[in-house]
Amino acid sequence: MAARTLKNVDLETLVSLSKRRGFIFQSSEIYGGLGSVWDYGPVGVELKRNVKDLWWKAMVRDRDDVVGIDAAILMHPDVWVASGHVSSFSDPLVECTNCHRRYREDQLESEACPECEGEFGEPRQFNLMFETHIGPVQSDDNTIYLRPETAQAMFVNFQNVQTTTRKKLPFGIAQQGKSFRNEITPGNFTFRTREFEQMEMEFFCTPGEDEEWHRYWIDFSMNWYRSHGLRAEKLMVREHEADELPHYSKASADIDFEFPWGWGELETISNRTDYDLKAHMERSGKDLSYFDQEKNERYVPFVVEPAMGADRSALAFLADAYDEEPGEKESRVVLRFHPDVAPFQVAVLPLSRNEKLTPKAREVYDTVRTVFNTQFDDAQSIGRRYRRQDEIGTPLCVTVDFETVESDDAVTIRNRDSMEQVRVPVANLVQAINDQIVQMRKDSAG
Ligand code: GAP
Repeated sequence: MAARTLKNVDLETLVSLSKRRGFIFQSSEIYGGLGSVWDYGPVGVELKRNVKDLWWKAMVRDRDDVVGIDAAILMHPDVWVASGHVSSFSDPLVECTNCHRRYREDQLESEACPECEGEFGEPRQFNLMFETHIGPVQSDDNTIYLRPETAQAMFVNFQNVQTTTRKKLPFGIAQQGKSFRNEITPGNFTFRTREFEQMEMEFFCTPGEDEEWHRYWIDFSMNWYRSHGLRAEKLMVREHEADELPHYSKASADIDFEFPWGWGELETISNRTDYDLKAHMERSGKDLSYFDQEKNERYVPFVVEPAMGADRSALAFLADAYDEEPGEKESRVVLRFHPDVAPFQVAVLPLSRNEKLTPKAREVYDTVRTVFNTQFDDAQSIGRRYRRQDEIGTPLCVTVDFETVESDDAVTIRNRDSMEQVRVPVANLVQAINDQIVQMRKDSAG
């Protein structure tokens, strides 16, 4: 496989590629956009779906000790009182007395407003939860929140899941879904947004075994990122200092990735102890303890939580895949995704759009697409189409030419990384593609 450059792509290049190729668009762009909310386009949605499916497979389908749920975004408001979000999910906010811009106090580098040098007023706490009202009447009695994390649904469903699955400790409950935070200083593209998707798992275990499981899940996540192509030198584990631990955590570690602007958190893995289950027991009056038959003992389980962002992970895969190869006339931009992360695995391209080649290429496409996520592309010159597939990171391009239809019933497979082209009979095409994909998986796993 071709060596990748180790330099960081700059954010501007990534944002412009994302728009040009249909990865990510600004939300409501024709109305001037909505602050820090983004839409995934036809290519980006495939990338993000792959990231989520790969996580779900590794976390739920390939394991006997984790099950999934898909809970509602809207939850009883008491959930957020018990979890501590109503009282303490807030950032210190200061407002410039001159231009009235607002900033997070803990992120300011000077004592004057960065915009107009005006003075700041007194800091106040700003809760990050979005509020709305349930039912036809808007009043304080029916205020509810868009969930700021998916985790709480796993705690409040602990008994339901345990009794229906009859799982014994240790076991986990996983969920993927939207969360919402009215961030004061969002930014860096899809890194910090107001609407985002999380992939979280709450792993319930016996108190005393929690620290071992905490280490286990940190290693698990690191391996997951690396085995799907993120380079080891761009990942690091950072243990939280005591003064930065979330209110529910006994110990937390972040997995950080080197984004174009520097190191940033991809995931936090926390030892949440029995904090949440106990808080919900107290507020709801329901017993959420567990009876351990082997020990003949009842106790409240401890919880270890790997909490990953789907959007941040997708952004990390995108940034890490970016590469540029110098060419004679212009450089070749290529996204060297792991083949399972790549939005499309194969593109089928007739050499040119005409009555002879297009029907044959469609026939090949119909065969290949039953096995691999495949695009058909017959617009513009073949050179431009290769460039487009390189820029969206498609591992293999299959070209149907005149020889295919006139003499050999074979096609050419072009490899994104080595640029090698091999001629393969159509009858063996699926196997030949599979062999190359298997090799590319091996090459890109770190
Ligand atoms: N349940 C624990 C929890 O929510 P968190 O560290 O606040 O922990 C977990 O969030 C992950 O969710 C983060 O590591 C990040 O990947 C993602 N995330 C959090 N806030 C985000 C935001 N505003 N925009 C995009 N992703 C975010």
